[in-house]
Amino acid sequence: MSSSSLNLPWWKKTTVYQIYPRSFKDSSGDGIGDIPGIISKLDYLQDLGIETIWFSPFFSSPQADFGYDVSDYRSIAPEYGSMTDCEKLIRDIHNRDMYVVFDLVLNHTSDQHPWFLESQSSRDSPKRDWYIWRDGRKPHGKKPPNNWKSMVGGSGWHYDEATEQWYWAQFLPFQPDLNYRNLDVKREMFDTIRFWLDKGVDGFRLDIINTIFEDEQFRDNPFAWNFFPSVEENKSFFQNKIHTINHPDNFLFVKELRSLLDEYSNPERFMVGEIHASIDTLKRYCGEVRSKTTTDGLHLAFMFQSLDVKLDVPSLLELVNLYDQNFQEPYTPTWVFSNHDQMRRINKLGSDITKAKLNATLQLTARGVPFIYYGEEIGMLNHKLPLKTAKDPIGRKYSWLPKIVISLLTRTGSISLNRDDCRTPMQWDQSPNAGFCSEDVESWLPVSPDHQSRNVTSEEDDPDSLLNCYRSLLRLRKNTPAIHSGSLVISSLSHNFESVLSYQRLHDNQTVEVWLNISEKHCRIDEMEQDAKLLFSTIHNATPLRESVLVLEPYQGVVLEYSQ
Ligand code: GLC
Repeated sequence: MSSSSLNLPWWKKTTVYQIYPRSFKDSSGDGIGDIPGIISKLDYLQDLGIETIWFSPFFSSPQADFGYDVSDYRSIAPEYGSMTDCEKLIRDIHNRDMYVVFDLVLNHTSDQHPWFLESQSSRDSPKRDWYIWRDGRKPHGKKPPNNWKSMVGGSGWHYDEATEQWYWAQFLPFQPDLNYRNLDVKREMFDTIRFWLDKGVDGFRLDIINTIFEDEQFRDNPFAWNFFPSVEENKSFFQNKIHTINHPDNFLFVKELRSLLDEYSNPERFMVGEIHASIDTLKRYCGEVRSKTTTDGLHLAFMFQSLDVKLDVPSLLELVNLYDQNFQEPYTPTWVFSNHDQMRRINKLGSDITKAKLNATLQLTARGVPFIYYGEEIGMLNHKLPLKTAKDPIGRKYSWLPKIVISLLTRTGSISLNRDDCRTPMQWDQSPNAGFCSEDVESWLPVSPDHQSRNVTSEEDDPDSLLNCYRSLLRLRKNTPAIHSGSLVISSLSHNFESVLSYQRLHDNQTVEVWLNISEKHCRIDEMEQDAKLLFSTIHNATPLRESVLVLEPYQGVVLEYSQ
C-alpha cells in the first residue's frame, strides 16, 4: 500500500464552490443577483466549510450569454456592482481565509467589445487582425471560407456585409474568436490576467481553453459519423474537429499561462481549464512533470467523465480508478457533477436526497479537488422551463425544434437544451422568492417550486438534511490530511461485493476508509478491524459499526478511521 506524505500546495487540498452571480442573491431589488448580495452570504459559505469560491463572469457584458460575452475585461457589469464592490469581495473572502477564483473567457469577446467594433469597421482597421477574418470561397465569396462547424452546431463563420469577409466564432455568432497568433492580443490578455492577479485573485477558471488556436492553413475538418458531442471524442455534428479543437498550439499556450501564474507566489495561484475531452487529452493540458508536486501546464482540468456516471459499483469503481490512476501525483483529479451548463446531478439521481448524500460522500472523500455548484448542497433541482421563452441563448437557438425531437433528445434525462433550468435563483428560504430577492420583485428566472422543501433555512435546522451532510463532509475533509492529501487505494473487498464501493485514503500514519453502499439493500460486512472508529455517516446519529461488524442501510455512506 502506498501512503502519501507529501506536503501539497493549498489548491490541491481545497474545495471549490461555484457561484453563478446572476442567481445567488439580489441586494439591489432588480431581480438579478449581485456582488453585494454575494458578500452578504459569505458567512454562510464560510460556515458551510467552503474554502475557495469561483465566480462565473461578472465583467462588463451585453449579457447575451450572461457574462460569457465580455465587453471589458477590467470592469464590472453595473447590474452586478462596481469595482469597489469587487475589491471588497476579494478582501472579505481573504479576511475569512478563503480563496477567490475568477472566470476568464480568453477565447472570444462579445461582438459589442470595442475591439471587435473597431476590427469590424474596416479591412484596414489596426484591430482587424485581433479577430479571425477570412475571404469566403470563390467565385463570389458568399460561402464560408471552409467547413468548420462551431461547438454548438452550424457553421462557425459569419458574414460581415460591410467589409465582405467572414469572421470565426467557436461558440455563438455574437462571440467572435480572438486571434492569438497576433502578439498584441496575447500581450493584452496576459496583462489582463496580471491586472486581476495584482488585485489578489487566487486563481482562474479558463472558459473553453481547448479552442484558443485553429489550423493556420484553414484546412477543412474531416467528416465523422458522430452527431452528438461526447467527452471522449473530439467529433460532433458530423465533423472530426482536428483543426478547431485541441490544436497542438493550445498545449504550448497553457504552458505560457502557467509561467505567468508562476510569477506570483504567497499564495501560489492556480488555473482550472474547462475542457470536454478524454483523460489522456486532459493530462496533456496539465503538462509535463516538473517536480514531485508540480507539472508545467494547467494546474487542474475539469474531468467531465463524472457528469453522467451511473450510481452503481462497477461504474464508480471504474471512474475512481480512471481518475486516480491516470492522475497520480503530481497530477490532481477534479470531481465535478454539476455546473451552469449541465443538468443538475440530483436530477440524474431521481431527485433522491439519500442518493445525493452518497454522491457527495464520494465527491468529498475521493482523491482530487471537488467543485460544488451553488444549490447542490441543498439538493436544488433543475426547474423545467419552456424552451420557447428561454433566456439562455443555446435554449433560444434550439427553440424551433419540433416537440417530438425535443422529447427524444431529452428522453434520457441527461440532456437539457435550456441552460436556464439549472440557473434558477438560489433557495435561501420558503418565502415566495426563496429569499433570493424581495417578494414584490420579479426574479430574472422563476424560482423553482421545490424551494418550499429544499432551502437553506429549513435544512439548517434539520440535522439529517443534505445541507448538514455537506457541512460535516466539508469539515471532515478540511481536518483530515488523509482525505485532502492522501493517496487512494481501492479496497479489495469492493471487487467482491456487488453493491459496496470501498477505498482507503492514506497519509503519513493516518488511515481512513470510506464505505458506500450503492444499493437498495442492507449490507453487512463482518470481520472489520476492531480499532475502526466512525468519523462520518450520511445518516445522522447512526451506529453502523458494532464491534467488528459494519451494517449499512440502503445508500448509506460512512467514513472510518483506524488508529495506528
Ligand atoms: C463555456 C461556458 C458556457 C458559455 C460558453 C461560451 O462552455 O461554461 O456557459 O456559454 O463557454 O463562453
